[in-house]
Amino acid sequence: MGVQSLVVACGAVALCLALTTATNPGFVVRITQAGLDYANQQGIAILQKELAQLKLPDISDKSGKVRYQLSRLRLRDFRLPYSRITPISNVGLQVSISNAFAELDGDWRVKLRFVRAHGSFNLKVENVYIKISLRLGSDAAGKPTVSTSECSARISKVRVRFSGRLGWLYNLFHRAIESRLRKTLESKICDIVDKSVRNELQKFVQTLPVTARIDAKTGIDYSLVAAPRATAQFLDAGLKGEFYSLAHRSTVPFSPLPLALPSDHDRMVYFGASSYFFNTAGIAYHEAGALVFEITEDMIPKDSRFSLDTSLFSAFIPQLEEMYPNMPVKFRLSTPTAPFLTIGPGGISLNPIVEAQAYAILPNSSLAPLFLLSLTGNVSAVINVRSGRIVGSLDVGRIRLSLKDSAVGTFEVRTIQSLMNILTSSSLLPRLNARLDEGFPLPLLDRIQLSNILVRFYQNFLLLGADVHFQPRG
Ligand SMILES: *[C@@H]1O[C@H](CO)[C@@H](O)[C@H](O)[C@H]1NC(C)=O
Ligand SMILES: *[C@@H]1O[C@H](CO)[C@@H](O)[C@H](O)[C@H]1NC(C)=O
Repeated sequence: MGVQSLVVACGAVALCLALTTATNPGFVVRITQAGLDYANQQGIAILQKELAQLKLPDISDKSGKVRYQLSRLRLRDFRLPYSRITPISNVGLQVSISNAFAELDGDWRVKLRFVRAHGSFNLKVENVYIKISLRLGSDAAGKPTVSTSECSARISKVRVRFSGRLGWLYNLFHRAIESRLRKTLESKICDIVDKSVRNELQKFVQTLPVTARIDAKTGIDYSLVAAPRATAQFLDAGLKGEFYSLAHRSTVPFSPLPLALPSDHDRMVYFGASSYFFNTAGIAYHEAGALVFEITEDMIPKDSRFSLDTSLFSAFIPQLEEMYPNMPVKFRLSTPTAPFLTIGPGGISLNPIVEAQAYAILPNSSLAPLFLLSLTGNVSAVINVRSGRIVGSLDVGRIRLSLKDSAVGTFEVRTIQSLMNILTSSSLLPRLNARLDEGFPLPLLDRIQLSNILVRFYQNFLLLGADVHFQPRG
């Protein structure tokens, strides 16, 4: 939005505040100098190939009484041995290429009164300096954009050698030709740079999956909340980082807290995943009805030496077995509210409330409600990254039970404590952990693989660090 339209929109003060208040990202991607160095290696290799295919137009001109023509200009080689990408605070990225060199072949043709001659020439171009400024932005879909905001190419050394009959004639005015070729080449370099940025780099950054469908029920919104921001050390991209239910996306009732990443710089890339990110996952799965689990007889491990039927309760709730003799029992576990977790330096912890409704399965298959328990317990999580996905596993501490409702009279809940421990640890947790082990995709560009993973916890966010490997096509 331009200043002009912002001024118009600011007619109403409240609206203006809404427009100028920045949204905190729920997820931050940070690229360090090590990451930019790697990007530089990969990018420069591509640019070098593009430059080596540079086509120069024929040149026809006159120097004194001599008419000359240079044609079939063929670049033999273009080398970019020294280059560096640096972030420039609040501007973007700067690519500096120095001491590049190139070699060019071509044909010459000359006409001086009745004399006509032709031959070939070789041009050595040295000390090529290219400075490129890249502007980063985000488009309407929240995908990153990149464009060349500035490009300058300067060649300080050009040597041309002519061969063939009358080649000496050319050597008389080589300065004029050299300067002509130098200027042509300088302007062509920036054309190629601009084209490469548009056709290669822009296409590549647009592969960011701003909406990642995770499974049949949920997706993650990884759209940029603002243009990527460069500081003197890093390039930071703030993403929304919000899970949502595919069937029904609702407004999240809380906002992400500001995320202050530490100034670590050993890894090429860091991801800051806020507690907002994880808590929207809880909401999305809860709303999608994915946090409902049934525990039935067939899920009980064979070695547990009990079967899930009403006889199991005979010692603790005698009236239950009297009412429903020898009938299978099933538990239906659900979360009355979305689970909410906190992240601190010690790790991730959550204290979810789970409701467990017990049913007797009657001979005609209908369900008779027995009792409703509320389960709480400290849950801790281990997080890792595998194949570009955040994976995890949960562990539950001691489970505390309370009886919320009963159709079979009151009883001491502690009597079924160990039964509930077995059911959660042998049936519920393995299923949850199997899902968490499949993981959730990180916002990665196409053909990027991560290695050398680091996982650390800070107040309100999880920090993931990694090195990057770019898998070329083929
Ligand atoms: C199943 O049996 C129970 C008790 O015998 C009865 O109350 C209930 O109506 C039956 N349900 C169906 C669907 O037949
Ligand atoms: C559960 O966690 C809370 C706070 O995180 C702690 O005070 C409590 O002692 C823990 N309880 C158990 C049983 O681990």
